[in-house]
Amino acid sequence: MSNVESLVKSSLSGMTTRPRRLRARPWLREMAAESRLAVANLVLPVFFCEDRSQESTEIQALGIRRYRFSELADVAREAAALGIPSIALFPVIDPSLRSETAKYALTDDLACRAIRAIKEATPNIGVITDVAIDRYTTHGQDGIVRNGIVLNDESVEILAHMALAHVKAGADVLAPSDMLDGRIRAIRSVLNAEGHHNVPIISYTAKYASVQYGPFRDAVGSSHGLATSGLGPEGKKTYFMDIRNRDEAVLEAKLDLEEGADALMVKPALSFLDTILAIRQATAAPIAAYQVSGEFANIRSAAASGWCAYETLLLETLTCIHRAGAQMIFCYGAIDAAKALRC
Ligand code: PBG
Repeated sequence: MSNVESLVKSSLSGMTTRPRRLRARPWLREMAAESRLAVANLVLPVFFCEDRSQESTEIQALGIRRYRFSELADVAREAAALGIPSIALFPVIDPSLRSETAKYALTDDLACRAIRAIKEATPNIGVITDVAIDRYTTHGQDGIVRNGIVLNDESVEILAHMALAHVKAGADVLAPSDMLDGRIRAIRSVLNAEGHHNVPIISYTAKYASVQYGPFRDAVGSSHGLATSGLGPEGKKTYFMDIRNRDEAVLEAKLDLEEGADALMVKPALSFLDTILAIRQATAAPIAAYQVSGEFANIRSAAASGWCAYETLLLETLTCIHRAGAQMIFCYGAIDAAKALRC
């Protein structure tokens, strides 16, 4: 025993570096912190439907609301008042408006009306729109399906129309979330041709074919079509990325930048921190990360089971996503995180 004591003592006696010194007081830890999550890093995704919709207002798994159209302005004002720079719109499309070819996506739809309403009510919050047709198709795929194949180029044409409609309605930033090939190039060239050179595109660059989108698909009502018709979730694997891959994300990142993307999204976030870091190291572009519905539902249930506090776990996960290299973090708990960060 005494032998152990003396060995430990002598082995430590000359020690000069003690990393614990800088962890001893809160203010020292504050000074030494390598990254700092701020409210400005947050994006609030918002689900909403028509005022007369029969959809329930609660999205249980996420503990958030499915807003009515006329509530949107208030949500935007609340987010802006907390310092959240932007909101991301996710309209819940009435099943009667869905079709094989996503026709409703080419009209002045719920999304376009919401963009205008929010820009009128709160000009000082950014509006990011989801450019994707999965909510508009009966089968829930992000493209037109023919002979069991999700068509690429025909679907990109629809996305380009949709992107232009969003910009004309006043969208500040476009976020194409489909992972079809060449859609950034197509959208950028349509925007340029129409004189909208300055609209940024956050491309969903590395969107993985993950099971963690379940609560989102329930929230926008696309799970039913996906489960009961057409190609099903397997179809998504023909355009979303394989969860086993990371180098491929770097290829996607380089392509998106060449095609005219301004920021690159990784999604889900927490399971793919290595991908965030790989893109951070391979490019100089700003990175967005989406803490997806499955990740957020897990935080809710962990807190509900009582083993940790909701806000603490929420801020820990967001901080880790930020540390990995993401500046823009989409999070269903953005309002709660902003409140926690401000106090
Ligand atoms: C639309 C879209 C999805 C998500 C964001 N945009 C669903 C999907 O691709 O199936 C998922 C977000 C989440 O799970 O929180 N394409």
